Amino acid sequence: MAAAADKKNMPIPFKVTFVGGAIAGISEILTMYPLDVVKTRIQLQDNNAKGADRYNNMFDCFKKIVKQEGFSRLYRGISAPILMEAPKRATKFAANDEWGKFYRKAFGVDKQTQALSVLTGATAGATESFVVVPFELVKIRLQDKASAGKYNGMIDVVKKIVAQEGPLAMYNGLESTMWRHITWNAGYFGCIHQVKSMLPKQETKKGLMLNDLIAGSVGGAVGTILNTPFDVVKSRIQNTTRVPGVVPKYNWTLPSVALVAKEEGFAALYKGFVPKVLRLGPGGGILLVVFTTVVDYWKSMQP
Ligand SMILES: *[C@@H]1O[C@H](CO)[C@@H](O)[C@H](O)[C@H]1NC(C)=O
Ligand SMILES: *[C@@H]1O[C@H](CO)[C@@H](O)[C@H](O)[C@H]1NC(C)=O
Repeated sequence: MAAAADKKNMPIPFKVTFVGGAIAGISEILTMYPLDVVKTRIQLQDNNAKGADRYNNMFDCFKKIVKQEGFSRLYRGISAPILMEAPKRATKFAANDEWGKFYRKAFGVDKQTQALSVLTGATAGATESFVVVPFELVKIRLQDKASAGKYNGMIDVVKKIVAQEGPLAMYNGLESTMWRHITWNAGYFGCIHQVKSMLPKQETKKGLMLNDLIAGSVGGAVGTILNTPFDVVKSRIQNTTRVPGVVPKYNWTLPSVALVAKEEGFAALYKGFVPKVLRLGPGGGILLVVFTTVVDYWKSMQP
């Protein structure tokens, strides 16, 4: 029997970190998903939405979805992000590791500097896009209001997209997703070190965790400020059914960002910002608590 102090400080194998992270991620999705539905609805709505179809703000959107479509619509499409969680997590870990090694070798340094962690994070974010795009596409299609009579669930979305728009259409939105991930990671890794160095030095484990939490929240908020315009455009691109011979309104990311700003004003690039940021705080808390619980449980099971 290991002494309590030994157990507390024992190294945690990758398997446990991975499974703990996945369980934490899924718990976060289960609780926070309605915010994601509301975010997508607000991002998809342009100046043409009128009357009962118009969402004036986040709360109005919640109210109208529940009233007009029923409570369960706040969970429509949730299986896509849940299925995505494990492959996304695996890619994130592997990509961070491999790109980190690659850049350290390429630049001939053996320690991770801040510039390198920004570069690594941004490249890993771009790599992750290849895994998440099809899941994100299915999710957006199911979150759209008009999807009720059109799609009968996740498998049906995939079947219909492949049949009507071709198999490559499953990757619609890849470019905007890359922009979204690159800017988020650059913002996040770009300021997390700075914030940590500005916070008071901590000696205790609790104090260190608090510093991590503060730096992580600031990093997340900065990432969200940078990436929301790309998220808006991504939602619009992924919601569009491609019809042969019709030029889609939103195609490449940067012209689409300019188009949204021109037609709906600069503020429209920040549609869905409030539900996005609101998710960060409690979402991060859930991740941390569930992850710690899983790891502690694993520790308690060790001989
Ligand atoms: C999403 O796309 C579909 C198909 O192109 C369209 O019918 C629907 O109106 C769009 N949703 C919004 C909110 O614009
Ligand atoms: C992209 O969208 C813009 C604005 O709707 C349009 O003018 C342009 O022709 C489109 N480009 C392509 C390659 O489809």
